[in-house]
Amino acid sequence: MTHIRKTTEYLRHCYCTGAKRMAPLITSCAVVLLFTWSFFSWSSALYSSIREDTAAAVTKKLQYLLEPPVFAEVIGRRGENVTLPCILRTKPKNYKVKWTKVEPERVGLENIVMIFNANAFKPYGLLGRRASLRRAHEMDASLLLRHLELDDGGQYRCELINGIEDENVVITLRIEGVVFPYQSKHGRYRFTYPEAKEACVEQDGRLASYDQLYRAWTEGLDWCNAGWLHDGTVHYPIIRPRPVCGGELLPGIRSYGPKDKSHDRFDAFCFTSNNNGSVFYISGSLSYDQAEHACRARGSELALVGQLYAAWRFQNYDRCDGGWLKDGSVRFPISNPRNRCGGIAEAGVRTFGFPDKMTHLYGAYCYR
Ligand SMILES: *[C@@H]1O[C@H](CO)[C@@H](O)[C@H](O)[C@H]1NC(C)=O
Ligand SMILES: *[C@@H]1O[C@H](CO)[C@@H](O)[C@H](O)[C@H]1NC(C)=O
Repeated sequence: MTHIRKTTEYLRHCYCTGAKRMAPLITSCAVVLLFTWSFFSWSSALYSSIREDTAAAVTKKLQYLLEPPVFAEVIGRRGENVTLPCILRTKPKNYKVKWTKVEPERVGLENIVMIFNANAFKPYGLLGRRASLRRAHEMDASLLLRHLELDDGGQYRCELINGIEDENVVITLRIEGVVFPYQSKHGRYRFTYPEAKEACVEQDGRLASYDQLYRAWTEGLDWCNAGWLHDGTVHYPIIRPRPVCGGELLPGIRSYGPKDKSHDRFDAFCFTSNNNGSVFYISGSLSYDQAEHACRARGSELALVGQLYAAWRFQNYDRCDGGWLKDGSVRFPISNPRNRCGGIAEAGVRTFGFPDKMTHLYGAYCYR
């Protein structure tokens, strides 16, 4: 430890004096650096072995549960079934296993999904209704979750309780999906937080989490309007920095931080995933009402914005024709960008906003 402290002092000294009187000092600096480097590597080796010991003492080694978990992240789309792995390596004489969903927003409230022991099990809550135990072998404590829903993403804890030393492992469940920005038909920045939340649900989505927005940004989402996220913060993702979108900072997620949920107004970032239906297009120069009738006549409904995004994301839906959606907006999905379809280089769902419903210019996107 003393060696390390000395080394940094040497270095600091070297930098400071070096800046004042450059030329003659540079060589002596190099010498000092060489010397101290050998000290440093030796003492850091010593230091890291000490640190490993203390780390082992602090985060105790698991005795009963397999760590690291077989896989720490499990991925599924809405409607799919997944297995959250948890394997016992030794079985204590008496034990229970408790599966909970870790809900950061509901601190203190335990969101139990399932409790079981060698002989019996009991599911809890809404998640429990879709949960069961895999029991592939006698050491298997893995949880099966059926028919995934949009809200299921997050962290799950498998906790072994034996009355002496309880242990747990945490598995992340990620719902694979797509994030879409959503604006009110009355214009930009009209939603309070509860209104944004409601708007996403109406479009077959949920307010996106920060992680979902971040992933969407890595996948190409560049959007110059700020929107609510599920945790009550407001952000927007920028890939091509420009003065009108927060200046020439590096690309990234721009943050307004937490905002007043009942008074501040922004757009929304919604998240949706796969669905069990399909989107199809009816061509024509239809008004909104005619579009609605056209879908009904084919046993379907005008599509929701989330449904169009899911078709674009999961079925590569590509159509160069503007069509009415249920919310009164007109959009079209582009998977293979080409000049005559909007002229934007990136794939995406394009929007014409909310035209007058009497406009006879567009077809209809229906969902069945
Ligand atoms: C999920 O599991 C249920 C019941 O075990 C089964 O009926 C269903 O087909 C499964 N769904 C998928 C997508 O595998
Ligand atoms: C299709 O998905 C919706 C929404 O996720 C669900 O309510 C419905 O039961 C599903 N239908 C079938 C046939 O799986």
